[in-house]
Amino acid sequence: MRALLTGGAGNIGRVALSRLLQAGHDVTVLDAVPLPEGLGAASIVADLTQPAALDGLPEPPEAIVHLAAIPNPFVATWDRVLAINMLTTFNVLRYAAEKGVPRVVFGSSESASGWGIHGRFYRPDYLPIAEKHRDLPSEVYSYTKAFGDQLCAGFSREYGLTTLALRYTYVVYEPHYAGFLGGVRADAPRDALGATYAWIDVRDVAEAIALALVADVPTGSHEAFYLTARDQCGTVSTAELARRNWGDDPPVPLDQTYYGDEPSRSFFDIRKAGSMLGWKPAWDLGRLLRERP
Ligand SMILES: NC(=O)c1ccc[n+]([C@@H]2O[C@H](COP(=O)([O-])OP(=O)(O)OC[C@H]3O[C@@H](n4cnc5c(N)ncnc54)[C@H](O)[C@@H]3O)[C@@H](O)[C@H]2O)c1
Repeated sequence: MRALLTGGAGNIGRVALSRLLQAGHDVTVLDAVPLPEGLGAASIVADLTQPAALDGLPEPPEAIVHLAAIPNPFVATWDRVLAINMLTTFNVLRYAAEKGVPRVVFGSSESASGWGIHGRFYRPDYLPIAEKHRDLPSEVYSYTKAFGDQLCAGFSREYGLTTLALRYTYVVYEPHYAGFLGGVRADAPRDALGATYAWIDVRDVAEAIALALVADVPTGSHEAFYLTARDQCGTVSTAELARRNWGDDPPVPLDQTYYGDEPSRSFFDIRKAGSMLGWKPAWDLGRLLRERP
């Protein structure tokens, strides 16, 4: 398939590119910075906040994976996070609608729910948080991802695009492994109030992107998916994290079919991604610790 990958020069983008090429797709990367040479894809440098950014494409792709964004609220000012994340997503969807690109896979975030990067830590209605749970975003990055998901849903409704929003959590990739695993090996306390300790290995994100590109979903539908490692990486169980955050009066209802045998299972429900995309995380903490000495 001819696919356009925005943000393909970034940390997740480069791993996704390699996975998409391995799957046999013909990939063009569009990014504000050039893709290093020799990675197997054509590179277009453009600023997606500009409406004409996609005009340089020789022909419309068969699908777009949209990852270009500011990936958290700490590396840019609020106005830049808002402008870049919201405009890039709108411009990509508008181009897809105008040119008849049938499918857009959006790099969303669990932050869209309000329980990733958050301002106020609201009490969830139940755990694990599933796609049907209400969203309560409460800071600028989360607003942009919730808005992106809503835009995707709107463009599906209005123009019949098939849109899949991948709500993955804190992504661990190459420069992070040492610090991430170092903290776990040193048994540093990981039980802070408000943290979900949800995480995911970048290779599992790339796999989900590859599956979303070809998943058999109804044309014109919009679907969101939570994607995390099976386990959270905190030092206490998920029930205990919930109890510390929101107390016992009453406790947040926990689905025992999810947590019964695995008390440290993710704060988020990844079963929909399993059933609709055929996705299963290959990396949990135990495997990463064993294979990254
Ligand atoms: N890293 C995480 O933990 C995480 C978690 C959930 C979701 N996400 C989302 O995944 C996506 C990729 O994140 P990442 O960690 O690889 O970030 P990254 O910063 O490494 O990559 C983002 C890429 O987008 C490009 N970009 C930014 N503004 C652009 C613009 N105006 N026009 C064109 N390109 C532009 C950047 O040049 C960069 O190459 C983002 O949408 C991010 O919000 C990331």
